[in-house]
Amino acid sequence: MADGFDDARAFWDARYATDEYVFGREPNRFLVSQRAMFTPGAAVLDVATGEGRNALWLAQLGCRVTGIDVSPLGLAKARRMAAEAGVNVEFEQVDVRNWHWPEERFDAIVTIFIQFAAPDDRSRVFDGMKRALRPGGVIVMQGYTPRQLEYRTGGPPQAEHMYTEALLREAFSDMEILHLREYEDVLAEGSKHVGRSALIDMVARKRG
Ligand SMILES: C[S@@+](CC[C@H](N)C(=O)[O-])C[C@H]1O[C@@H](n2cnc3c(N)ncnc32)[C@H](O)[C@@H]1O
Repeated sequence: MADGFDDARAFWDARYATDEYVFGREPNRFLVSQRAMFTPGAAVLDVATGEGRNALWLAQLGCRVTGIDVSPLGLAKARRMAAEAGVNVEFEQVDVRNWHWPEERFDAIVTIFIQFAAPDDRSRVFDGMKRALRPGGVIVMQGYTPRQLEYRTGGPPQAEHMYTEALLREAFSDMEILHLREYEDVLAEGSKHVGRSALIDMVARKRG
């Protein structure tokens, strides 16, 4: 478990083995800014849902949410928070690097800080997300740019795991990119995403 990518489950279980919600209980700010993308009743997949803060918010909007993650401990905390809020979210433990992505099942896919994926895994995960989206469905994504390595306020230390506008434009060239922006902002998400951060946001729609 040297770097957390060979044994993702053990790495993330260790990180989540605390009562604290390490990325906070509030939804990600960029996700909230995209509220109009999520209509009540829509089927939404939250990729790498972690402790479930974003999945919970989506379910509270009335979406039918599936949250997937490799960490059973993270998912246990996510289930607890959803139960406390009295909302229903389908949680499933999967390794997204090997998951059999369903075909055209979701109206929206949310992917907030999945910088664990190295380039090869990342392209498979991106292909899986595209496969799982219905035509007209959207991907809502936030990640870090390589500049984040200077800030060290969240995310892994590998530049090749980060995104740039050019990388995302190329990776999603078969989709309609509705929004793509690199910028810097101060994050305050629990204890693990805190301080000035080099961010990139994308919203893209599957053609069809
Ligand atoms: C930085 S956290 C983000 C969690 C959540 N999206 C959020 O914004 O609060 C990254 C998440 O990726 C999950 N993860 C890491 N490797 C994974 C894999 N191979 N398959 C599925 N999930 C994975 C971790 O368990 C962790 O919950």
